[in-house]
Order: sequence, then structure tokens, then C-alpha cells
Amino acid sequence: MAAPLDFDVLIIGTGAAGLTLALSLPEHLKIGLVSKGELGGGSTAWAQGGVAAVLETGDSIEEHIQDTEVAGAGLCDAEAVRFTVEHSAEAIRWLVDMGVPFTPDAATELGLHLTKEGGHSRRRIVHAADATGYAITATLTEQIANAKNVVFLPQHTAVDLITTEKLGLSGPNRCVGAYLYSQLEDCVITCRVGHTALATGGASKAYLYTSNPDGSTGDGIAMAWRAGCRLANMEFNQFHPTCLYHPHAKSFLLSEAIRGEGGRLLLPDGQRFMHRFDERLELAPRDIVARAIDHEMKRLGADSLFLDISHQSAEFIAEHFPTIQRRCLEYGIDITREPIPVVPAAHYTCGGIKTDLHGQTDLPGLFAIGECAHTGLHGANRLASNSLLECLVFGRAAAQCIAALPTQPLPQEIPPWDESRVTDSDEDVVIAHNWDELRRFMWDYVGIVRTSKRLLRARHRVQLLKDEIHEFYSNYRISNDLLELRNLVAIAEAIIESAIRRKESRGLHYTLDYPEADGKAQDTVLEPMDQLHQ
Ligand code: FAD
Ligand code: SIN
Repeated sequence: MAAPLDFDVLIIGTGAAGLTLALSLPEHLKIGLVSKGELGGGSTAWAQGGVAAVLETGDSIEEHIQDTEVAGAGLCDAEAVRFTVEHSAEAIRWLVDMGVPFTPDAATELGLHLTKEGGHSRRRIVHAADATGYAITATLTEQIANAKNVVFLPQHTAVDLITTEKLGLSGPNRCVGAYLYSQLEDCVITCRVGHTALATGGASKAYLYTSNPDGSTGDGIAMAWRAGCRLANMEFNQFHPTCLYHPHAKSFLLSEAIRGEGGRLLLPDGQRFMHRFDERLELAPRDIVARAIDHEMKRLGADSLFLDISHQSAEFIAEHFPTIQRRCLEYGIDITREPIPVVPAAHYTCGGIKTDLHGQTDLPGLFAIGECAHTGLHGANRLASNSLLECLVFGRAAAQCIAALPTQPLPQEIPPWDESRVTDSDEDVVIAHNWDELRRFMWDYVGIVRTSKRLLRARHRVQLLKDEIHEFYSNYRISNDLLELRNLVAIAEAIIESAIRRKESRGLHYTLDYPEADGKAQDTVLEPMDQLHQ
């Protein structure tokens, strides 16, 4: 049995949020930096379009706030939006100081090229061509690699949080650590920790078709929920309008920046159609564009629609979209000459663990930052390129808060992971089947367009799966796939329950049974007492 590991701060997740937090904490703190993949894995490395920020005197905090709130369809938290936007410029300067190679443009005040995306009233998105996330990840991982106070734990999957209540200790409940499953050693390690931060990303793998990497299974959200934290607005699942449609292209996004730079959406017969849905055409907020595409595909019985940037010069395309151009060419599509087949796919989890402006959750000792958190910034629909911004701003805010908190005494003893009542599974096929079934019914019944009947059908299915998975989890030794499935089913249930409770259409939640928005915008908050059983 491995000895417990002790840290002042345990950061679970090494995307933009986790890395920002790690790099912003004082050096005297001993940090554990955990990733279930490699250091720097997660959605961040896949981000294309860029980071939104107010960087030009012609732009203003008020305009960025307004664009965020319009996209958020009346549900953004005004304080969270202002806090994020007011800290946007310093977050970008921090990235520049770290060495992120953003695309230059001598004509702007900061010397960085600014692109545009849906819902933004002006150009305000800094980017590194069309591989912004890769540039951020590479730079931040390089910066953290030599930190003497950081212990790296790649290929370790956090299983569950450890709380004083679960340990039966007296006093107010508090998070004091986590169990980590080592994929290489096939064993579970105990961590004793002063402060724990979840930076585990989103949950778009709950859907059959997604732009996200495989690890986006909502682990942090599910762990926090099991530990007694509230979840908010889980029904708002953002579908990106334009993912590449090709039998061999798994999860490849075609950045909204293509539309920002003049890309047009076309029907199979080559006609434009967005004018029938919104006067902002291809640059309407994402929920509107994704629903329009979904509507036209269903109306025409088409497998995909098309995105066309071929009217721009080949030099322009090569300069702005080199990654997308290269990837499409691998599938035989020359984007300088022909339209690209596209479909919407699940892209971003707007809801998550409820936090304050410093990433503090309901559970003392536990922080949540990045896509797993619900800060109130995104409301009912996230504005493009506000996500990386949120990771940076809240990663830095959480660091400040943790640095100012007193050191916590660690519990004397935490019982090791108990495997005495489980055996090796002889039927791993059950896991694969359940994964597939869950993602399929979520796509079919809880997707871009919902109805009450579909949601009730999904609720029935998720209960059956949940019982089956719980039984499997209780009887068999854990694996990465089983842990992710256990988390995904909790996420699916939270999405379905939240969607059932929202008796209106707003932002990303659109139901044929309640097609209008209510007069009063309200968050859907799931309380710990709503949990039926684990
Ligand atoms: P992630 O970057 O997803 O990282 C999650 C981390 O948690 C990973 O290290 C993972 O290994 C780890 N992890 C998860 N579960 C566990 C566990 N149980 N145990 C241990 N580790 C765990 N947003 C923008 O603002 N601009 C863009 O241009 C943009 N483009 C995008 C393009 C694509 C294709 C995608 C998928 C998303 C894009 N987004 C964009 C959204 C944005 O990239 C993400 O919201 C953001 O990167 C999330 O960062 P994060 O740090 O919260 O999580
Ligand atoms: C994109 O490049 O289209 C993704 C931007 C985002 O999700 O914010």
C-alpha cells in the first residue's frame, strides 16, 4: 500500500485553469498537479479561435459585458461578468509575459492581431493563428516544468474527494484530500491536502457527437456533487455549429473565427440561409446558429450543411487557418477551393459547480475553476472565446484567495482505499455498452431541440443505467473507463433533471413544449438533498 501524499494545494486538472492556478500560487506552497492524461491534456490544447479581452481604446468594458449578457440570454450573473471582463486585459498581459506567441499585428495597441467571432460586436479576440490553445498549453507547461514546489502526477485519475464528514471527524465539514487512481500502477493513492482545486474541464462527452477530447467526462462536477456541492444550470449544453462532417474525422472543430473572417454557411444547393434566422447572419450567437443548422438539416433530410471560406485568398487562409487547412486536406477537402461539410456537435458545459468570484465552492477547502465551474459568467449561452478568459481570470483569483488563507492542519489519518470487497471484472463489455447507450440517448433526447416527452424518456433510461453502473462500481475493481462512466451517468442525470425543471426556452435550452422565454430569468440549482442515491 502506497504512503499518503501530502500537499498544501492539490490541483486536479492541467488545462488552462489548472496551469494558471499552479503558476500563480506562491512558491512556498507544495503543490500536487494531477492529470488523468499527460500534463497539458484536456480541451485547452484543442482550442482554436482565441481569448476574448478588452485591449483597444476603441473597445470598452461595457461593450464586452453587453455582448456577454446578450449571448447569455438574460441569465448571466452581472457581478461575475463585470469581474471577468475587467480582469481580461491583465490576463492577456500575463499570458504575453509568460511567452505565449500570439499572432502579431502592428496596427493594434498591444501589437496583437484581433479576430472576431459570433456574438461579439467588434474584433477583440487574441489568438495564435488557429491553434491558440496549443500555444497556451505549450507555453504554460514549459513554465511549470521547472517549478521546484510542484509534484506532477500525470495519468492519475481523481476518484473522489475526501471530506471530514466522510471521515467521521467532528467540526464543520471540509475537503481534506482526494483518492487518485494511478493508471500505470493500477492502484489508488491517498492525498492529504490543505486546499483542493478542481480544474477538470467540461462534460461534453455525455453526447455522442462532440468537439471535445475523450477526457471531457465531467469528473470534477460529479465528484463535487457527490461531496455535497450545489450544481447550477446544467441544462445549458453548448453545441458548436461547425464541426467537420467526415466519417474518419472524430471531433474536429472548424473555428468560429472562419465565420468571423467572412466564412458563409450554405445549404447543399449552395444557397445561404442564415438571413432567415437572424439579422447577424453567420455571426449570430452560437445557440441560434446551431439551431438554424439543425433545423435546415432536418427540413432537408441532409447529413450535413457547408461552411465556405474559399472566396478568401489562399494566402489569407494559410496565414489564419493553417491547422484547419492541413487537417481538412488530410480528408481530401481543399478549403481554398471548396465548401467544408459541417454538423453541430456538443462543445461546452455552461453549467457546473457553483462558485464565488474566487472559485470557492460550497465545501470549505474546495475550489472549482475553468469549465467545471459555474461562476455565472456564461448564463444560458457562452459567448465565444470567453471560456479561456474565465480559466485565466478565475485561476488567478483562486490563487490570490488560497495564498491569503491560513494553512490548514491535515487530518492525522485517512483510511486507504478499500478494495477488500471487489474483484476483477470479467465483463468489461458492459462498460463499453453503457458508455455508448448513454451518449446516444443524450444526443437523441437531450440535444439541441428538446421536448418534455423526450426528457422523461431520458430520465427513465438514466435511472436504469445508474443502477447498473452503481452495481458494477460496487463489485468490481476500478479502471479509468469505469470511473469516467460513473461520472458521466451522474452528469447525464444532472443535465436531464435541470432540463426537466426549466419550463421555458432560453439560450441553449430549447424545448418545443415551452418555446418562449419566461419573464423572469432564474438559475436552475441542484441541491445536495436532490440526490436520490449514489
Ligand atoms: P481542460 O482544458 O479541459 O482540462 C481538464 C484537465 O482535467 C485535463 O488535464 C484532464 O486530464 C484533467 N482531468 C479531468 N478529469 C480528471 C480526473 N478525474 N482526474 C485527474 N485529472 C482529470 N474556448 C475559448 O475561450 N476559445 C476558443 O478558441 C476555444 N476553442 C475550443 C475548441 C475546441 C475544439 C474545444 C473542445 C473547446 C474550445 N474552447 C474554446 C473551450 C475551452 O477550450 C475550454 O472550455 C477550456 O480549455 C477548459 O479549460 P479547463 O482548464 O477548464 O479544462
Ligand atoms: C472556436 O474557435 O470556434 C471555438 C471558440 C470557443 O469555443 O470559444
